[in-house]
Parts: sequence; C-alpha cells; structure tokens
Amino acid sequence: MKNLSCRLGTYVKILLVLVCVLGSVPTLLAKTGRPLRTHVQVSTGTQGMVVSETLDASRIGAAILAKGGNAVDATVAVAFALAVTWPEAGNIAGGGFMMIAQPDDAQVHFVDYREKAPAAATAEMFINNTSRFSWQQVGVPGTVAGLYLAHQKWGKLTWEQCLMPSSELAAKGFEVDAYLARSMNFVLTRKNVRTQDKFSELRKVFGKPDGKLWESGDTLVLPDIAKSIAMIATQGPDAFYKGSLAQALAIAMKQGDGIITLQDMADYQAKLRPSVHATFHGYDVYGPALPSAGGVTLAMMLNQLEVLPLKQQGRFDAQTVHLIAEAQRRAYHQRAMYLGDSDFVTIPDFLTTKTFGKQMAHTIDPLHATPSDTLTPTPKLADESPDTTHFSIVDEQGMAVSNTYTLEKSWGTRLIVPGTGILLNNEMGDFNPIPGHTDRKGKIGTQANLIKPGKRMLSSQTPIIIKHHGKVTHVIGSPGGRTITNTVLNVLVNCLVFEMPMSQAVQVPRQHHQWFPDRIAFENVDDPAFASLVIQLKQMGHTLTGASKQGQGSAHSIAIDPNSSQRIGVADWRRGGAAVRQTKQESISQ
Ligand code: DON
Repeated sequence: MKNLSCRLGTYVKILLVLVCVLGSVPTLLAKTGRPLRTHVQVSTGTQGMVVSETLDASRIGAAILAKGGNAVDATVAVAFALAVTWPEAGNIAGGGFMMIAQPDDAQVHFVDYREKAPAAATAEMFINNTSRFSWQQVGVPGTVAGLYLAHQKWGKLTWEQCLMPSSELAAKGFEVDAYLARSMNFVLTRKNVRTQDKFSELRKVFGKPDGKLWESGDTLVLPDIAKSIAMIATQGPDAFYKGSLAQALAIAMKQGDGIITLQDMADYQAKLRPSVHATFHGYDVYGPALPSAGGVTLAMMLNQLEVLPLKQQGRFDAQTVHLIAEAQRRAYHQRAMYLGDSDFVTIPDFLTTKTFGKQMAHTIDPLHATPSDTLTPTPKLADESPDTTHFSIVDEQGMAVSNTYTLEKSWGTRLIVPGTGILLNNEMGDFNPIPGHTDRKGKIGTQANLIKPGKRMLSSQTPIIIKHHGKVTHVIGSPGGRTITNTVLNVLVNCLVFEMPMSQAVQVPRQHHQWFPDRIAFENVDDPAFASLVIQLKQMGHTLTGASKQGQGSAHSIAIDPNSSQRIGVADWRRGGAAVRQTKQESISQ
C-alpha cells in the first residue's frame, strides 16, 4: 500500500513536471525572437515601390499609388496600415521623422513629428522611477500631426482616401502572419500584462478571443482602432488633438499617474525643418536634423570615412571593420556630448564640417582600438547601464519618401487609451534620465538631452535619401534604437563604397559601436566563417559581442537605377517585411 502511494506520488510529480514543461512551451516559443526568414525579399519594377514591415501595409501603399496617389499619400496610408498590422511599432500615438524628395526639386524636405515632453515634465522625474510602463513615460504624440502636415503640403488624394483602407482592414479583420503572432504572444505572455489591471485594455484589444496563443493564419479584428482611424479620417487631426480621442487620452492620464493634459495635446505641432546634408564620394546624403541625432551622427561618420582608406581591403577585412568601428565610436561620442533638441540647446556648428571629420579621422590608430574613455572632451563618467519601424516608398514619378516612426520600445508603454485601441509610446525614455550620470554601460546624462517642458527627446532615427547628380538613387532607414544610425551607415557604405547591389547590402552582417559600452557588436561574431576576423579585431584591442537575437535593425530600402529608372525594393530578412511594387497601370493625372 505504502509502495503504491509512493509510486502514485512519483507519477503525480512526473505529471506536474510535464504540465509545467508543456505549459511553458508556448511561452518559450513566444519568447524566441530569432528571425523567421534568412534572406531578403526583392521586388523590382519601374513604377511605384513600397517596402515596409508587413505585406498588408505594403499592399495598401501600392494600391494607393495605383489609384493615382503619390509617395506622400502612400506614406500616410502605410503609416496607418502599420498601426493596424504591426502594432508593436506602427502607431497613431507615437512619433517619427520623414524625408521627402521630389523630381525637379533640389531640396529634400524633412518633417519632424517627434513626440514632446508635456508642460508638467521635469528633468528629475525619472531619477527614482525608470519603469517604461508608466503613463508618465508617454511623450505628447506627433504621428497624426506629422502625417497630416506632409499630406497637406504634398498629398494628391484626400486624407480620407489615404486612411480608410486601414480602418476597413481593422474592422473586417486580417490574417495574422508568423511575425505578428509572435509579437502579440510575446507581449500577452509578459507577467505584468497578464496580471496588472492597467494592461486590461491591451489584453482586451489584442488577446485572442479564446484565450489561447495566436498562430499564423488566425484572423485579428480591431474594432476600436478601426473606429479611431475612421474618426481621424473624417474629422481630421483635431479628432486626435482636440476632440474625443484627446479627451479620452487626457482622462486616462488623470486616472493613471500621467501628466499629459488636453492643452498639451492641442499645443502639439509637427515641424518642417531643413534636412542635414552630407556629401560622400560625389553622392548627396540627406538625413533628419535634430531632434534626431541621426543626420548629424551619420554626417560625422561619413566625413571621417571619406578620408580613410576604406576600400583598400574587402568589406569584412579586419582593417575595414576596425576603421568603421573607430569612426562610429568618435561620432557617437560627439553625439552624447552635444546633441539634443536644437530648439532648446545650441549645437556646435563644427560637428558636421569636413574639417572636423578629418580631424577625428586623424586620431584613428590604423592598428589599435582607441579606448572610449580616452576620447576628449571626456564627460564625468559615473562608476559602476527595440521598437521602431522604417518604410521606404518611391512613386512612378520619382517622388521618394523615407520614413521611420516609433512607439520607442516594442509595444511602447503597453498602455492603451480605453475604448480607442490606441497604444501609447514610452518616448520620454529617450531623454537622458539622470542629470549628470554618464556611465560605461551606455547611460548618458549630459545637459543637451535633459527633460524640459515642450522639448523633444533626442532620437537615433535616420531615414535617409541619397542623390547622385540630382537624382534619387537610394532610400534607406531602419529601427533598432541607438544602432539605427549605424545600420544605415552599414547599408550606405556597402552600396557606395563596396558597390554591392541593394539586396546584398541589406543581407550581409552589420557592425555597431556606440562609444559606450566600449565594444563592437558584430552580428556574425559566432559564425566560424568570420572567426579569423574576430581574432584579428581582438588582437587590435577590440572587445566583440553579438547583436540582439533578432539581428541589427530592419533596413527596408529601395535603390533606383538612374539610367533605367528600375526600382529595386529590398525587404530586410531580420524582422520580416515585404517589398511590393505598384502593379496596376492607372496613370497619375498631374
Ligand atoms: O527614437 C529613437 O531613437 C528610439 N526611440 C528608437 C527605438 C527603437 O528603434 C527601438 N526598436 N527597435
């Protein structure tokens, strides 16, 4: 008898272990962030081209082009479509940066729709509370205003025509793909989302109705988002900044610990600013100006690399990787020292000059790594600390848009304004959180990017447009936090220096150095094919690490052959994505 109960006890234990193990399988699966694809997806054509994170969004963009819309119309449509089909980063209540080039217009325009600190924000508000899941982390959103500004100035179709396809898709429901299933399962299985009341709206909007995990092939219906987009479509941006959506947001803020008021919403304005212009081996490179550090940091790297013997060896030769890493280290150091919202701080003008690029390049030792804490000026170093989405669009006439926008981290604060389906960003986390605290782990506490009411937080987003002899040749950008500018640099250098076709330029491994932590993140650090490169870099004094599980960024890009006008749309493989060309023949009436 004793024996039997002992055996039964053992069986019960085994059963319990099995239940635990099997029960955690979906969670484990949901956690794996590894890429599902291993190769870029390429589409070519001479008409319009849209490359974004989801097939549905790219198709909506291509359909807008086929209807006679231009690249800006398609941008508005794709941005709202991603808010539906790629909710971890596509957004209505986030912010971003847009670059626009038109044929016969020498200027490349820049729309800044970065979020702003609310009026009640203070520099010290996050010293003791760095949780990203609080209502205080929300910056006053800029996406709706930015898209509307661009549309007012350049759009051809009506605002409503651009928004309604996304509203209809959300109302009718759409097929979940493997990436979206994984993303939703990831957020829904987080402990705080499962257990805390403030995430009940996220569970309601994105939870699978039967309570199980999402699988590819399921249908996702988003009625609240459908209604919100329809309101913004028919009433314009006032629905979001002054009307019932703004009121719902302000009420939610009051009920949580948030500080955004109706006045903050009404006061938000997107801005047209001059873009940052750099030249590189005869190409003109246009990127966003502050509050994105992207354009300035990229220019500082290009100005160094232009005078370095980059092409003497192959792209993955130790010498090449070393020089690029050293240029990255120096530019990111300057970024940390000086950059912030230029409406609030004075930025030294020498940073983007060729002379300063040369000076920085001359401090690079060709054989040895420069320790990051020897760069001057050295800030006082304390002792001892992804999600965004980019899309590229070119229309049949040659108008090009490079757009990166974000909720900051994947799924932002994970907070949704009740009844609206609108997810809120955690962009306040992009300000320097602790005044004066700069450390070797990567935390920055310099003055330029401290919180002030109405100030925009510094960004790394780097949507760029490249021209050659006045014609657009490349549209590039990426998500990935502080790695963004370096991802763009990798693709650019691969194309312009190593003459790779865009498909290869996006496909190959990427490298990142951001001053601190003092190390090169190299995607293929553990790949035996790169073992000798890694050994040589270590001999030069570099520390190496891998990139995140998903890889470095997701650079959905387009190259245009200026002779044939062929557009080559390349969807990166690291996070999914789709390049879709315009197929219908409708001509665009001017
Ligand atoms: O604006 C920025 O630089 C960051 N908020 C971007 C965050 C990001 O790319 C995270 N995702 N991958």
